[in-house]
Order: sequence, then structure tokens, then C-alpha cells
Amino acid sequence: MPPSAPFNPPAADLPNKPFVPEWVPPPVTQQKENFAELKSIDLSLLDSEDPVVVEELIQKVKVAIRDDGFLFLENYGISLEQLHRQFALAQYLYHNISEEEKERLLYSPETGVWSGYKHPYGFKRHRGVPDGIEQFNWYKPDWEDRNRTPTCLQPFMDEIEEFCNYLTKSVNRRLLTLFSRVLELPDDYLWDNVQSHGSPTGEGYFRHALFRPVEKSTQEASKGLRMHGHTDFGLTTQLFSVPISSLQIWGRDEQWYYVPYKPGALVINIGDTLEIVSGGHFKATRHRVFKPPVDQLQSERLSLVLFNSSVGDLPMSPATDSPLIQREGYIEEQGIFKEYRKQMSSGRPVPTNRQWREIQISTATDPTDTISNRVGAHQVVIDGQVMHQREYLGMKVVLPV
Ligand SMILES: [Fe+2]
Repeated sequence: MPPSAPFNPPAADLPNKPFVPEWVPPPVTQQKENFAELKSIDLSLLDSEDPVVVEELIQKVKVAIRDDGFLFLENYGISLEQLHRQFALAQYLYHNISEEEKERLLYSPETGVWSGYKHPYGFKRHRGVPDGIEQFNWYKPDWEDRNRTPTCLQPFMDEIEEFCNYLTKSVNRRLLTLFSRVLELPDDYLWDNVQSHGSPTGEGYFRHALFRPVEKSTQEASKGLRMHGHTDFGLTTQLFSVPISSLQIWGRDEQWYYVPYKPGALVINIGDTLEIVSGGHFKATRHRVFKPPVDQLQSERLSLVLFNSSVGDLPMSPATDSPLIQREGYIEEQGIFKEYRKQMSSGRPVPTNRQWREIQISTATDPTDTISNRVGAHQVVIDGQVMHQREYLGMKVVLPV
């Protein structure tokens, strides 16, 4: 495999580009408790000429995705300066997008995609309780038609598009190589057979998100939750580590832990599709967005994420060619793979990747929704623990609140 080229973005100082103020990372929290310890993977080691180094890397990845389903990725080819430019562009968007464009580009999640602008009033097109979360999401049609991007960002789309191309076609491809090797399959197995193609984000999407501090009434309605506990429905998620601690993962000891800040690192998590492809060997980790520690409660949290999707028309299914699966069988713990197996053995049709993601987007509920978020509605008590339970296309998803 040839060594991977570093990210080489289009110039930022072209005459047609307005000045973009720098993004200054907010201070990190002083709180030390309730932080997870995640394994960190140095992606540049994949290029090592020493087979021992590469094999150690594969083994480290194997343990990380089985135990945590989350890992830090470092040395993946994008410098801190290049990354901060992308945060500056996201910040520029929220300082400059007009009210008229928020309306024109407003998203329609009931269609099963997040494409466009999300207003800070919940995860439906109509405005609900304020949640302080704004997003802009780019899907394939949004890359193809510049009119679907806010005017203020149009001069910078060359940079944003190349950034996503690099994240997908270099970083994610190398990541999928690692995962293919863990499954003992050819390097491009997951890239060629599972990853969707055809745009800078395939059938997935790239997101600029801004979490603003919320009013007391919102915080009370949601009990501090900003986004429900969930697993990502796709293949892999590439999220940039940020100083505001809000992302939490569900530990093996059944407690929530904040993901610590590691400047420049990508936080990678495994989605449902990949858990199923891997026959349960990889875990789609449960995570949520929660209010930050007290000293960050009044800070804005800017977040950049790329959600990689699998080929939409394929039914969700394990890679039975995998020697690892053939030798060790499936791993059925609590999780989506177990539900998938139940669905298969009952003879009911399993969803395609597209059906699986679209049903979850179109029926998403808000943490502030006090009608749905009660025992008897979307919540159940299992072993004394309140859990959020939804059913999509006959498959049950049970997640800690
Ligand atoms: Fe997520």
C-alpha cells in the first residue's frame, strides 16, 4: 500500500474569499471526574514498512472496537491549523447566515434525511421547545447544487468539499482497511462492498453543529440531556474532539462518561451497520450529548462531524466471508446485532441500510419531549434502570437514558 498523502486543501487566501475570523478553542473544563479513557490509534502506523508495527496496530484496533466501540484517531493527515480553519468556517456560518436563508434551507427530517439547516427548536421541521442546537448538514444533493448551501459559505465550498473528500476517501478508507484486516478480509473489502460512494460524503453527510447554552426551562424538561442516548445508524462516525465536554459514552460498568478533549484527534465510533457487518465483533457504542460540566455551561460548543453511510440498497447483513466470523462465530450481546439475529430467525424481512437510517431520522424525538420520555411511553424499566425503548421496522432498540 503506498503511503498516504497528507491533506492539501485549496488556498484560503484567494481574492474572492472574505476574511474569516479565526476560531479560538474555548478553555477546557477543570472537572476531572467522570471521564472515559479511550484508546488512541496512530493511523500513520498503517504506512509502516515494519509488519510487526502494523500487526500491533491491528490488534490494538481490534481490542478498542470490541471493548469500547470508540477510539481516538491521531496522525491521520490533517494538521491542527487545517482543522481550525474548518472550525472557523463553521463559526463563520453561524455568525453570517441570514434569517431568510434559515427559512429557505430549512430541513425536513420527516423525509428521512437531515439535509439543510436545523433550527434550534428540536428535531422536527415545525418549531418545538428550544433545544439550542443548530446544524447544517450536507448530503449528496447539497454538494451537487451550490444553491443548497448558505450564501455566506459559498466562497469556501472548495475547502469544505476537499476536507470531506479527504475524510472519506483517505481517512475513512484507511480506517476501513484496519477494520477489514481485523475481520481478516482483503484491505478494501469494507470500502468496496459496504461504504457508499458517489459524493464527498457518499450517501452519508457532513455536519456543522452549534450547541448554545439553554434556558433553565429547557434544561429542566430534558434533565440536562441535549441528545438522547443512541447508537449511530451508519458505518463509522468521524467527530472532531472539542474542548467543551458534552459527548458521553456508556461504559461497561453502566455509567455515562465524558469523552476527554484531545486536540486535533478524531473521535471514531462504530455505527449499527458495522456492528451487523462484523457479526457483533465490533460494538456500536451507546452515546449521548449531555450538559457540560458547570464551568462550561455558558459556553458554546461548535462541532464538526462526518457520518459515513453504507450502501443504502443493501440489506443489513454480516460479512460471512470473514475468517474471524467463520472461526469464532457471531457475538450476540445486548445490541443491534442480537435484534438483527432475532429478526432473521423469525423470518421477518431485515431492513436495508437506507430504511434503517431513514426511519430513525424521520421518527426522532427530543430530550425535551416530556410526553414521550416517560415510563409507559418511550421508556421502560429493566432491572431497576430506566431505559429508552423504540422499535424500528420490527427491531427493538433499547438504550440507557
Ligand atoms: Fe451519535
